[in-house]
Amino acid sequence: MVATAPLDIPVIEPSSRVKGFLQSQRQILINGKWQDSSSGKTFAVYNPANGDEIAQVAEGDAEDINQAVAAARKVFDDPNHAWNTMTPSERGKLIWKIGDLILENLDELAELESLDNGKPMGVAKVADVPLSADLFHYMAGWVTKIEGNTIPISVPYAPGAKFHAFTMREPVGVVGQIIPWNFPLLMAAWKLGPVLATGNCVVLKPAEQTPLTALRLGEIIQEAGVPDGVVNIVTGMGETAGAALAAHDDVDKVAFTGSTEVGKMIVNAASGNLKKVTLELGGKSPNIIFKDTDDLEATIAGAASAIFFNHGQCCCAGSRLYVEKDIFDDVIAGVSAAAESIKLGPGLAADTEMGPLVSDEQLNRVTGYMSAGQEAGATCLTGGTRRGDQGYFVSPTVIKNASDDMSIVREEIFGPVVVADPFDDIEEIVARSNDSTYGLAAGIWTNDISKAHRTAARLRAGTVWINCYNIFDAALPFGGYKQSGWGREMGHEVLDLYTETKAVCLGL
Ligand code: NAI
Ligand code: MG
Repeated sequence: MVATAPLDIPVIEPSSRVKGFLQSQRQILINGKWQDSSSGKTFAVYNPANGDEIAQVAEGDAEDINQAVAAARKVFDDPNHAWNTMTPSERGKLIWKIGDLILENLDELAELESLDNGKPMGVAKVADVPLSADLFHYMAGWVTKIEGNTIPISVPYAPGAKFHAFTMREPVGVVGQIIPWNFPLLMAAWKLGPVLATGNCVVLKPAEQTPLTALRLGEIIQEAGVPDGVVNIVTGMGETAGAALAAHDDVDKVAFTGSTEVGKMIVNAASGNLKKVTLELGGKSPNIIFKDTDDLEATIAGAASAIFFNHGQCCCAGSRLYVEKDIFDDVIAGVSAAAESIKLGPGLAADTEMGPLVSDEQLNRVTGYMSAGQEAGATCLTGGTRRGDQGYFVSPTVIKNASDDMSIVREEIFGPVVVADPFDDIEEIVARSNDSTYGLAAGIWTNDISKAHRTAARLRAGTVWINCYNIFDAALPFGGYKQSGWGREMGHEVLDLYTETKAVCLGL
């Protein structure tokens, strides 16, 4: 059992605006109406800084998913519906407005996110909320630029015949989207932005740990003027509401972000009607520091932030830190010092740099890995403990002397725990970096530009950051090789995954 070190947690009252939002039981959004779950059941949402209940939310299940899918289907199948007759320019303006309204409500959304997820409110204000707005703004611009091609065809068995052939990109239909709790608002934006840009209809299921900002976003989407039934939001459990959505025969595509384990269940559930599937799953990303790195201090800060940002609850966290032997001791001393200097506290406190983990389940998972690593013989340089006896806090943790076959090296911990190991040369470190079932992201730190490119080219990862880490942009596609997923989020690449290509051939 992992030890507990004390932690003083100040009690911070939410603003009256957020209190107001939390006061009434939050409902499900179907066909433009906020309603109770069909069973009447609700579930509690907790403040991870102290375990207190902060809200009751409608607990949708298969019946609510049926209703939501039917509402989305009705809109999608009606050629005269306002959503389908709207010009691309009009649709783009609606999506732009969602981005504007997110920015108008930035403080409230950041506070709600912080209270629900535990992340520092200051971080939500500069990262989660503005990135969410930017995603809608970026996608708004694409609506008028979703084009097909004209294609000169030859048709060898029809000599002399003439054709006019072209392709069109059409929406895929009714989309089910299932999102996680680590960036609740941003994950909703990553999913809803492209769905709206391409003219689909959607049923979104937020994570049961953190449903609040997605529900607030639902109100914003209504305020922006998106017609009823285009965006439906069903809160509920993964095993019931999520599973029903993934298996639904009237859903044309399911997009999922979460664990690789559930990703595989989604693939199985989708096989009934062979709906399209995109997946953004886990990672165990290598962060490689060469001894010729330009600025050691900045590199150490970068390596620390690669793992400790968002409490390590990032699918792309730099959780395997590989450092060229000559500078290994200096780097891990620096990363450990950075870990020890991080101010833990509730997300709402102004000076908090790291909040609690999201739930008691994650607390148990992460401390379980801390114990497993120490029992397997790895050395904990700093951290390795739960902090305090209320809420779900853990100390930022740096571990060395772990062998490549230990669970702490192979499995996604999803907490502020980095495993550091030295290496000797490029061949070795490329092989070790790629020796993973995952392939989401990787980091490289070096002053040698050709070495940086040579290494980047050989890493089997969807994103490679060179002399930086955790850089995201609405224009930059993100997703995984291997078991880190199928398809990409963001950039114009995501639009392909929300459209079908129709080839039209006209005999002249
Ligand atoms: P999860 O994969 O169970 O949950 C993610 C979403 O999937 C939630 O909305 C959940 O309700 C839904 N879900 C769960 N079971 C489902 C099912 N059978 N059918 C359809 N939907 C289902 O992740 P969980 O349990 O919250 O976290 C466990 C681990 O997963 C974490 O420790 C972390 O390693 C990984 N994870 C990875 C994330 C990523 O961004 N890649 C995000 C969240 C978790
Ligand atoms: Mg789960």
